[in-house]
Amino acid sequence: MEVVILKTYDEMSKAAARVVADVVRHKPSMVLGLATGSSPVGLYKELARMHREEGLDFSHVTTFNLDEYVGLPGDHPQSYRFFMNENLFKHINIPPQNTHVPSGTSANHRAFCEWYEQRIRECGGIDVQVLGIGSDGHIAFNEPGSSLGSRTRMVTLTEQTIDDNARFFKDKADVPRHAISMGVGTILEARKLVMVASGKNKAEALAAAVEGPVTSMITASALQLHPDATVFTDAEAAGGLKLRDYYEWIQKEAKRLPRQ
Ligand code: F6R
Repeated sequence: MEVVILKTYDEMSKAAARVVADVVRHKPSMVLGLATGSSPVGLYKELARMHREEGLDFSHVTTFNLDEYVGLPGDHPQSYRFFMNENLFKHINIPPQNTHVPSGTSANHRAFCEWYEQRIRECGGIDVQVLGIGSDGHIAFNEPGSSLGSRTRMVTLTEQTIDDNARFFKDKADVPRHAISMGVGTILEARKLVMVASGKNKAEALAAAVEGPVTSMITASALQLHPDATVFTDAEAAGGLKLRDYYEWIQKEAKRLPRQ
């Protein structure tokens, strides 16, 4: 796993956006996996800027989001579909029919999840998956204890996640208790993983994910099993990393290598 430490959220977001944009330029029909939450907002802002100012073209891109709350329709302001429309889709030229966010309101969740997995396969698999990390070490809504082989399914959120996400709702009681989430196994099949982590409250989880054992108790630790995973972190989230100096040394030395 590559660890790239930047000073600020803004620098972190721009560095991660450059990686995504490079793939879009080299493969215009690429499949992009997306996350919601505070972590990737700056990354999406930068992609929107690149579209506006540099003509980055999303007209052939297909997207798949990691997760959605059960019970919230797409026009609910706290739904992840709504979040994606507001923070990315309406700022770039992606055809709406190319965007997939799991449905939280399907009559048959199990059948929907099977369809979602099949649709990812039909589109050729995910080229780049953007990820955030929960303060309990989750990726998507794969809470501690989720199997590292898990697939898209309905999950029950932990109290910690409900507390963390209550800031977006009027009342904590309004936070949904369940979500549809891609599994850890689904995420590991993406060809490239790009995680963004920022803020002090992520430091402990990030250190466990990067430097601790691979365990279903910290589902982000599964990134250690992936051949092409990069974590972009700001200085605060990097605060718990024991090998921080070494990661910074690797980045410095990489600049001295001839470009491959
Ligand atoms: C959301 C998702 C979650 C978040 C995580 C961090 O689609 O997949 O795993 O990435 O909960 O959320 P923020 O970025 O709001 O701290």
